[in-house]
This record gives sequence, structure tokens and C-alpha cells, in this order.
Amino acid sequence: DTPFLLDRFGRVARDLRVSITEKCSLRCTYCMPEEGLPAIPQHELLTVEEIVRLVRLAVRELGVQEVRFTGGEPLMRRDLERIIAGCHEQVPGTPLAMTTNGVGLEHRARGLAAAGLHRVNVSLDTVDRAGYAELTRRDRLDSALAGIRAARDAGLAPVKINAVLMRETLSGAADLLQWCLDEECTLRFIEEMPLDADHEWARANMVTAAELLDVLGERFELTAAGRDDPSAPAETWLVDGGPATVGIIASVTRKFCDTCDRTRLTADGMLRSCLFSDQEYDLRQALRSGADDAELATLWRGAMWNKWAGHGIDAEGFVPPERTMGAIGG
Ligand code: GTP
Ligand code: 5AD
Ligand code: SF4
Repeated sequence: DTPFLLDRFGRVARDLRVSITEKCSLRCTYCMPEEGLPAIPQHELLTVEEIVRLVRLAVRELGVQEVRFTGGEPLMRRDLERIIAGCHEQVPGTPLAMTTNGVGLEHRARGLAAAGLHRVNVSLDTVDRAGYAELTRRDRLDSALAGIRAARDAGLAPVKINAVLMRETLSGAADLLQWCLDEECTLRFIEEMPLDADHEWARANMVTAAELLDVLGERFELTAAGRDDPSAPAETWLVDGGPATVGIIASVTRKFCDTCDRTRLTADGMLRSCLFSDQEYDLRQALRSGADDAELATLWRGAMWNKWAGHGIDAEGFVPPERTMGAIGG
């Protein structure tokens, strides 16, 4: 029994991502269907106490060093502040982060910072209002921008902006970068993965990192600067000589599974070792049938030991996982 989460390829999971809801205030086409995801019945959602217990176990017994809350949209849970406060109390030295779309964050950023949240990554694919409304199927750009500024001003910094590369918004990529430079946010573009609920993703049509670099190169001078650390998903470029940077998470064309350090928990308490896993481990049932910490830890270690080498998006016969991004946790 190791005090950390090791897999058979020698990777160690130190980054826990906890999805806390499948609900969302937006309907980004690369993630959600128009009507939203089927609701998880309330009794199947992990409670504040259950989430706090699992986070505490992951950090104290299993070597997890950073915890990120995702969804769906974490702000859809009214008890988010209690989740953060509870985790902060149990694992005070561990950085707590959140990935959010920023809608409504304006009114909660200070409270979240006070509860113990350290940083936020905000999804923002374009600063063009019509383009934003089309991609997210909701006219909420102003709220998202206000949320980003409020997070920065509340000290949830550095605020990182995530932009999924889509053909519809590619021509606005340079404007988005300029906006992020002006607002002192760190922008990262992300290659779209086949995790959209509508199953529209097509390898031949996806926007690649190489294509983005051509587009940005027309307005900025970019100098490759490598990764911040070996397991960071983003590769970084200096913008116009630095110190500002732009990142690219090239999950498809330059996959980084070899250095993956993630373990995941879904909102209904299933453990996943990878975004693309075809297997889940039911921590909720174990928890609710009275398993002690040692038993839960053994289950968690076993799940991670069985993690596969990496996704096979480019392999022949690739089949996307049954759950889509919003249901796994981005
Ligand atoms: P930082 O710790 O701030 O660097 O955050 P992060 O990049 O770990 O988290 P974030 O939620 O901002 O993730 C950014 C994007 O990276 C996600 O939206 C996904 O598209 C992609 N991503 C996250 N986790 C994984 C993963 O396990 N595998 C792959 N292939 N891509 C991932
Ligand atoms: N491919 C890549 N990233 C995605 N996200 C959502 N769907 C996809 C996808 N199909 C990202 C969002 C956000 C995080 C929750 O996941 O942009 O940053
Ligand atoms: Fe919501 Fe995030 Fe999915 Fe967009 S990417 S629909 S903001 S969960």
C-alpha cells in the first residue's frame, strides 16, 4: 500500500478534480446539449460532508497536492462556499482551485476567496458578444467578464482563461488574447476533445494548435517557452518578447497523457482515472455503506493502478466515453 496514487506506468496522481454538479448556466456547443444534461437525482449527488471527507482522505492519505472543483458549473451549487470552507478547514495547506464559466461569479468571488478558494480558471471563448451568445447559446458575456474582473480583484489570482478552439471563434482569437493581456489574465487555448454531448466533433474539422499559432502570428510575435512544469498540460509562448504569455493545451495533436497526474471524482461520487476511462469505481456506495478511510483508500489506489496509458483519440476504432465533458468534469 503506497501513501500515494500510483499507476502501472509509474505515474503518480497529485491533482484531484472534483465535479460537484452536472448543471450549468451555459450550453457551450462543445460540451452540453441544448436542453442540458439529464439531472442527477439529488440523493445521488455527493453532499458537502461527503465531498469534504473524500478531499481530506485524498490529501492526507493519498498524496494529493492540489484540488480543483469543476462541473458542470460549480457556481450552480448554492453550497459551494460550504464545500470550499469545509475543505479549507480540513486541508488548510492545500491549494483549492475552481474551473468556472464566470457567470454570476461577480457576486460570489469575495465570499469564495474568504472561504479559502485560492484561484479560478474561467472559460471564455471569445469577447465578441454575438459570437459568445452563439457558442454558449446564452447572452451572458457581460456577466462572465464581470466575474473575471471580480475574481482578479478578490485575489483569486492569477486568473487563467480557458478558450476551447472552435472554427466559429478562431478569427476572434487575437482579440481575446489582447483582452487578456489588458486585463492581466493568463490565456490558454485548448484543442477540442471528442467529449461534446452532440457528438459533432470530427478530427478532420477540429482547430489544431498549429493553426492557432498561424492566426495569432499575424498580430503577435510568439516565442516558444516550453511547459511551466513537466506535468502541466499547457505549453507556453512568450507574447511580443514577454513577460506576458499565452498557453496551448494541445490534448489531441500533442497529447500529454505520459505525464498525466490527475484523478477525478464525478458529482455522483464515481472515481475515474482518466477523462476517457471506460470504467468507474463507485465511491459513493462504498462511503454510504460505511467503508472506513482505509477501505476507501484501497479502492482509490486500485482504481488508479488500473489507469490506462492514455487516450486513443487518434487510434483506429476510437470510441468516446459514455459520459460527456459536463458529466465528467472538465
Ligand atoms: P491549472 O492547474 O491552472 O493549470 O489548471 P488545469 O489546466 O489543470 O485545469 P483546467 O480545468 O483549467 O483545465 C484546462 C483544460 O485542460 C480542460 O478544460 C481540458 O480541456 C483539459 N484537461 C483537463 N484535464 C485533462 C486531462 O486529464 N486530460 C486531457 N487530455 N485534458 C485535460
Ligand atoms: N474539449 C476540450 N475542452 C472542453 N471543455 C469543455 N468541453 C470540452 C471539450 N469538448 C473545457 C471548458 C472548460 C472546462 C470545464 O472544460 O472550456 O475550460
Ligand atoms: Fe457549461 Fe463549462 Fe460545459 Fe460550457 S464548458 S457548457 S460552461 S460546463
